[in-house]
Amino acid sequence: MGIFLNTTIPYEAYRAVASTRFFVDKSLMIEELLNGLELDGQRYVCITRPRRFGKTVMAAMLAAFMGKAADSSLVFDRLAIAGKEQYKKHRNIHDVFYLDLSRMPENCSSYGSYISRILNGRNPQICP
Ligand SMILES: Nc1ncnc2c1ncn2[C@@H]1O[C@H](COP(=O)(O)OP(=O)(O)OP(=O)(O)O)[C@@H](O)[C@H]1O
Ligand SMILES: [Mg+2]
Repeated sequence: MGIFLNTTIPYEAYRAVASTRFFVDKSLMIEELLNGLELDGQRYVCITRPRRFGKTVMAAMLAAFMGKAADSSLVFDRLAIAGKEQYKKHRNIHDVFYLDLSRMPENCSSYGSYISRILNGRNPQICP
């Protein structure tokens, strides 16, 4: 398991939100995105929303669903996506690269140094 490839970070984050009292099941968005990919050939998706509208949680949901880092059936079996065709076809079988650029690691003074660490293949969590 790497730092960005197939980590359990998004699964843990989504599982935590999914266990709260005020959790809202937005899992049918997975169906919409997969239909866009499979039926319409949309390979790139940009999701924009105002602050605090759930973008990060949605990214974690997608990674938790698609990724093979953790068996997410305990979370998704009870959600709406479980009744859809794509459920068995796509859950936990994909390699997922999950990179959150909303904040820098400790000791990292700029996004430039953070990104060059990634490009140079060094541990991007340790910045000069
Ligand atoms: N499906 C959901 N059910 C319940 N709470 C949620 C859900 N999605 C997001 N939240 C909560 O709403 C808040 C904002 O979510 P999130 O951090 O994903 O938003 P964001 O759009 O990424 O915000 P920002 O623009 O600040 O990065 C968080 O407290 C999160 O736990
Ligand atoms: Mg966010």
